[in-house]
Amino acid sequence: MRDAAPASDIDPRDIRDLVTPLAGLEGPLLPMLHAIQEEWGHVPAAAVPVLADILNLGRAEVLGVISFYHDFRDHPAGRQVLKICRAEACQAMGGAGMAAETLVRLGVDWHGTTPDGAVTVEPVYCLGLCACAPAAMIGDRVIGRVTPERLVRELGA
Ligand code: FES
Repeated sequence: MRDAAPASDIDPRDIRDLVTPLAGLEGPLLPMLHAIQEEWGHVPAAAVPVLADILNLGRAEVLGVISFYHDFRDHPAGRQVLKICRAEACQAMGGAGMAAETLVRLGVDWHGTTPDGAVTVEPVYCLGLCACAPAAMIGDRVIGRVTPERLVRELGA
């Protein structure tokens, strides 16, 4: 992934160069969006007309797909991404209260990033770790039986 650049600094030609090789895939929009987010850490607004043009779609269709999938961000994330499970098993094990306290401790709301750019918090709906609820994920690492204290400690926040 490139260093986080202001969205306005992302050249649409670079986006086109990145995604054009994927145009031959079956259902190419999602792989293109993933490639863009992998490269720049989010899907910048400049990507929408590029994708619409390459795939002969309306801009609203592209925006609709981006907004439908929670994993796509329209702005850069913090250096670490904390995903907290909000699905049923975790809720049954106190996940709502755990999440609320974690958000307070970090000083952010859902989808928010701490002022120092260190952590972005996002909801997720089941991490496959229901037996160890409540669960969360920091980067690619899933963690079970989390507490606010443990999450803040693991984040170094
Ligand atoms: S419900 Fe939270 S990990 Fe499955």
